[in-house]
Amino acid sequence: MIFSVILWFLIVTTIASGHECERPCTQGDVRTCMYEFHLQEYHTLGRACYSCPQELSDCARPECIAADGVSRPLLAVNRQLPGPAIQVCEGDRIVVDVYNGQLSDTETIHWHGQHMRDHQYYDGVPFVTQCPILGAFRYDFIAANPGTTFWHSHSGLHRAEGVFGALVVRQAEDVQAETYDVDAFENVLVLQDWLHTTAFDKFMGRHQSTLDDYATTLLINGKGRNTAAEIEGLEVFAVPRETVAVTPGLKYRLRLINAAALNCPVIVSVDRHPMTVIATDSHNNIPITVESLVIYSGERFDIVIEANQPIGNYWIRFNGLVDCEQNFCHQGAILRYEGAAIEEPKEPLEYSSEYPPGTVLNPLNSVDGENELTLVDVDSFAPNSLPANVDKQFYLGFDFNRINNTLLYNSEFYPYDQVSEEWKINTPQMNDISFIFPDSPPLSQPEAPMPNLCKYGETPSCEGDYCSCTYVLEVALGETVEFVLVDQGNIGDENHPFHLHGYSFGVVAMGKLGRFVWD
Ligand SMILES: *[C@@H]1O[C@H](CO)[C@@H](O)[C@H](O)[C@H]1NC(C)=O
Repeated sequence: MIFSVILWFLIVTTIASGHECERPCTQGDVRTCMYEFHLQEYHTLGRACYSCPQELSDCARPECIAADGVSRPLLAVNRQLPGPAIQVCEGDRIVVDVYNGQLSDTETIHWHGQHMRDHQYYDGVPFVTQCPILGAFRYDFIAANPGTTFWHSHSGLHRAEGVFGALVVRQAEDVQAETYDVDAFENVLVLQDWLHTTAFDKFMGRHQSTLDDYATTLLINGKGRNTAAEIEGLEVFAVPRETVAVTPGLKYRLRLINAAALNCPVIVSVDRHPMTVIATDSHNNIPITVESLVIYSGERFDIVIEANQPIGNYWIRFNGLVDCEQNFCHQGAILRYEGAAIEEPKEPLEYSSEYPPGTVLNPLNSVDGENELTLVDVDSFAPNSLPANVDKQFYLGFDFNRINNTLLYNSEFYPYDQVSEEWKINTPQMNDISFIFPDSPPLSQPEAPMPNLCKYGETPSCEGDYCSCTYVLEVALGETVEFVLVDQGNIGDENHPFHLHGYSFGVVAMGKLGRFVWD
């Protein structure tokens, strides 16, 4: 009896990561979940790593960030990449104390996909919902929106430097429970693009010099191989890959999160295992089975795969598109059956921008291709509650514009049209307006002056051809609002994910009228 109690205790503690809120969700068990986020400037392959990556066993040491075996500075929460996962149950109270240990920079954390009803001031957007954090700050909110999502820095380029992590809110009663057998805490896969310089170098090199904005590689839960080693002339180290362990005969729920900072949609597929998509962006859908899907930055897909193939190791493949295409950014995680050898799958792992044979969900720049499904084709589980008529409609045209952006040019000394082609960079804008942060957060200081404010339909202030303001779209409480998002197609076949804090979208239509007009 004593033995079995001890054994039970061991099993429970090894399955959970250690946080008391990481637990199976049951009706009535509502907890307060406390976390400490210590943010600091840090380094991959630092002191904690001893002889990693030459000595691979050292890569698993506490506080060692091995990443892809390449040394670079980063920003880390609790000396982890990704930062700590928050996995709770619907209705739990999440309390996160953020200690900003940076030398001089401020911080805010956004809880993506949490609508923050009644906790708007914890949404984490600097100068919009709060003053940025200098010392320490407590976020305190209810996990009211179930589903797979993530938290990330909303300050500067910090998300690209490593400040993000999973945020999963499970339910005691899951309408999709029939579709899978296992929903394990470790089966959350956070994808990210990764650079071998800092994001500051990349961003400044792109905007103020002639460098590119391409990613170097992809990481899965902070792990992977340097797939750009050949381009860079670097040695590849066999640092650990992410592995998903499965027992034959069972169905596994995998939670995919794309935390990429650059414009890197990622094609995801699993060798010999079709994926049944059961939720997208925290919303359950009528299950659909596809061979691959494209996940854009900020998006999440919950998929189910059935371990019904011969015992072995199979690649979970990630192939980057757009800004991840130039350096052939790809990565592999391993789907490992119980009883399989501890080795890599035999199939080659190479970059491909092609969709694998079969059906692809959410393809890039396509709306009605053969074997292609868009999110308009995905049926929501919840009945459609959208009213037939809308109260307000906003037209939001977006594009890159050829203008004398004062942050990049000086129309007296080096205007747009007088610099050579390699120095020309176009300015991304919405309705031909660039965003300016308010001087103080309107949420906490509504009476403070907003000198740069301009409202939808009004003409903003411009310097020459460069217009910028704090652009405000006003709605009344309870109104149904329709956004018409139009890629104006001036320059290139650009694509971009859209995300609205505090709300979910119902996608009612999608279309494509043609290709871009100017090259
Ligand atoms: C930028 O400024 C220059 C100098 O004032 C002007 O000639 C030019 O038309 C402006 N616009 C662009 C796109 O260069």
